[in-house]
Amino acid sequence: MSNRPTPTSPFAASPTRLAAVLGLAALLCAGVLACSGGDTAELSPLAQEGKDIYQSVCIACHNGNPNLDGSVGPANAGASEELLLAIVVRGEYPEGYEPKRPGSNAMPVFPYLEPKIPALAAYLSEVQEPTP
Ligand code: HEC
Repeated sequence: MSNRPTPTSPFAASPTRLAAVLGLAALLCAGVLACSGGDTAELSPLAQEGKDIYQSVCIACHNGNPNLDGSVGPANAGASEELLLAIVVRGEYPEGYEPKRPGSNAMPVFPYLEPKIPALAAYLSEVQEPTP
């Protein structure tokens, strides 16, 4: 005869531990959403078009979340139409603009995207997070 408690599964034994695991899963999930570039936000149809272009062309260098720096290109959320037209179509900066990566000239031009600049600008503005 023994009065030691019978061993049970770690989850059954500890509701706190189960809660901790679930909480961690929720955190991870939120992190993944944040990395995918504000997928939770509702985008206008124009911005959605811009997103499709951005997520296929630009993320080779820029972060999938335009609020964050990418492997090669800097964060560019909130980039204006004027800035996009200059750097994406002509490979230059608007007069008086202070580049985030001064002196770098690594970004190729995409002249064929000229008609899509308003869509890209809409996306990069709608996806922009307020700076903390
Ligand atoms: C081959 C890599 C590459 C690709 C592809 C690329 N970029 Fe860039 N981008 C860069 C780099 C590097 C910079 C930093 C300046 C430079 O080197 O020209 C930059 C800078 C920028 C800037 C200026 C940021 C600032 O405020 O100084 C914007 C805006 C931008 N990119 C938007 C885009 C968009 C939109 C696309 C897709 C159509 C795109 N980029 C595709 C590499 C890239």
